[in-house]
Amino acid sequence: MQYSLKQVEKTYKVWGQFPFLYKLACLITLIGRENKLRRLTVKALKLQTGDTVLDLACGTGLNHEFLENAVGPSGKIIAFDYSIEMLTAAKLRAVKHNWNNIIFMQGDAAKLSLSEKVDGILSTLGISAIPQHKEALKHAVNVLKNGKRISILDAQLPTGFWKIFNPLIAHVYKNWASWDYTKNIRDDLKQLVNDVEIKKYNGGTIFIATGTKV
Ligand SMILES: C[S@@+](CC[C@H](N)C(=O)[O-])C[C@H]1O[C@@H](n2cnc3c(N)ncnc32)[C@H](O)[C@@H]1O
Repeated sequence: MQYSLKQVEKTYKVWGQFPFLYKLACLITLIGRENKLRRLTVKALKLQTGDTVLDLACGTGLNHEFLENAVGPSGKIIAFDYSIEMLTAAKLRAVKHNWNNIIFMQGDAAKLSLSEKVDGILSTLGISAIPQHKEALKHAVNVLKNGKRISILDAQLPTGFWKIFNPLIAHVYKNWASWDYTKNIRDDLKQLVNDVEIKKYNGGTIFIATGTKV
């Protein structure tokens, strides 16, 4: 199941124009535990005040409140996304909160290149939507400093009783979020970084995978 960048562009053009609806969709996807799960993903990076962090496929900037708390005004957030509309929503959020230390970058994560190395990378519900996600992970790890961490929050189809809903869930998220549930993000991450730790939430439908670059 391979999506194109064209499909990503089309899908997120709509969500970016209606950020409040996107926020609602996130709340539903994360079963009401959105803030807690975003906070845990950021916490796993063990960021310090003044650090630079990359938010890969940042969307409308829903992680930025937690990243701001972690790196403080002396730190820097690089907010990277393909969708111009999602980035515009993230910029508006930054203006509203007076966050002046966010650099916004538009591009394909599979071709990511930065002029500096970063102290941490996170991606929430992003990797599963990136068409060439293995390339994106490789490029991301390239810009991570040695000894620093990458933390990925993503979703997987339910198992057990709830799997009777899988065809419906797969259909909805494929069409509305360019979600490719066939990706094995955790194993792909293990190829690139060490000490990968995986924690599961929401009945196993959400995981946070964290690893360290050596
Ligand atoms: C489900 S949203 C997640 C957004 C945000 N991280 C969050 O937690 O709300 C997926 C995001 O991935 C972005 N995306 C998909 N493919 C991409 C690519 N090749 N390069 C950069 N961003 C991409 C989309 O534009 C969209 O903003």
